[in-house]
Amino acid sequence: MGKLHKNKHKPKREGKTITVGKIESVPPGRGATVKLKDGSEIALFNINGEFRAIENFCPHKGYPLADSRVYGSIVECDLHGWRFDVRNGECFTEKSCWIESYDVTVEGGWIKVVV
Ligand code: FES
Repeated sequence: MGKLHKNKHKPKREGKTITVGKIESVPPGRGATVKLKDGSEIALFNINGEFRAIENFCPHKGYPLADSRVYGSIVECDLHGWRFDVRNGECFTEKSCWIESYDVTVEGGWIKVVV
């Protein structure tokens, strides 16, 4: 497998709720990159109206997962096909590379992520 890459743009865990956008901005079955003020990033996904967030970083070579294809609740990295569960960050390809997931809520049409 080789060495896993470290995500330099992973948000700091602060227990802070951040409003990231309107629900219409992420269509079902798609991902979107959310850039936070401190320069960190998360990947936000709409799984049939349910919003989920994980690191925007494939630990294999660092490709942004928000730009990758989604199959149900699985995102498959566009670069070399590593697969992750967008609900909890589990990596199905390489068990040692579990990535972080973030709680998401929707209030009045706004998507909020807890980092
Ligand atoms: S960068 Fe290689 S599978 Fe994601």
